[in-house]
Amino acid sequence: RAFSLRSTVVAVFPEFRPRRLRGTAAMRRLVSETTLRPRQLILPMFVAEGAAQPRPISSMPGVVQHTRESLRKAAVDAVRAGVGGLMIFGVPQTRDATGSGATDEHGILNVALRDLRAELGDDTVLMADTCLDEFTDHGHCGVLDADGRVDNDATLRVYAEMGVAQAEAGAHMLGPSGMMDGQVGAIREALDDAGHQDTAILAYSAKYASAFYGPFREAVDSQLKGDRKTYQQDPGNAREALREIELDVAEGADAVMIKPALAYLDILRAAAEVSPVPVAAYNISGEYAMVEAAAANGWLDRERTILEVLTSIRRAGADMILTYWAAEAAAWLD
Ligand code: PBG
Repeated sequence: RAFSLRSTVVAVFPEFRPRRLRGTAAMRRLVSETTLRPRQLILPMFVAEGAAQPRPISSMPGVVQHTRESLRKAAVDAVRAGVGGLMIFGVPQTRDATGSGATDEHGILNVALRDLRAELGDDTVLMADTCLDEFTDHGHCGVLDADGRVDNDATLRVYAEMGVAQAEAGAHMLGPSGMMDGQVGAIREALDDAGHQDTAILAYSAKYASAFYGPFREAVDSQLKGDRKTYQQDPGNAREALREIELDVAEGADAVMIKPALAYLDILRAAAEVSPVPVAAYNISGEYAMVEAAAANGWLDRERTILEVLTSIRRAGADMILTYWAAEAAAWLD
């Protein structure tokens, strides 16, 4: 919805007083434009291969690398709290150049998806991160060519195989997050060929090369040295985000995502105005860490800040929000 001033505004002060609609909680509730409901929140979760205990992530207080068992319990609790979906990330014990743990049916992410689908059935939307960075020993989102550059088309073949493995493990929706050209189409085709035409794709369409992913690197024990600027978008660019969305929709994306959220609310608003499919925003690790750190110091009111952040992302146009606060916020909203 584009903003425009309407010439029909006839009354001005003192006849018209905007504060009339702010005078009581009931009045404010009546005229509130933006809803925030548990079903609009998706909880990203980490599961670590071989973990005996849940392992705290120091830069994301309150978030852990789960064991298979603690993941299952936390997932059940989140679904009970009413969240709309779960996005699962795997942290493998060993890594190699091609990220083979990602395609292996015994790889930690696929094993965890099986656990959760068996536990939860169709009670939630089970989502899987379809990307190699957690599984490669160099930490890049794709496989490398002889010169050490991320090889787009070779990576597509691995993503296709990974997507099928995740669908077979029980994921309802795949989240290709690697920003390879053609990734949505390659995964869609592989899913359809394997008989998984009902598995949906939530495309990370406009994903920026952001410093705000910092804490996530700790969360998945990332091996990355350097950056992802040859595949993720330049923070200064808006136009290419819309082009990426168009391409992903043309390739078969069922929903699209903008990521990060807070520093990119303009992109989110632009996407929401043009997208023919639902739009998600990822309130990422660094956004979480900033608020948690400030709240821990007593500098911000934690609950108010979190609800304001999530409301703002909804107001900007997100139909759904991936947030590490999903389960907690869902309980507050209930
Ligand atoms: C890549 C991936 C990343 C995140 C989600 N998927 C890291 C990256 O692109 O560097 C970041 C999520 C967050 O920071 O919360 N598989």
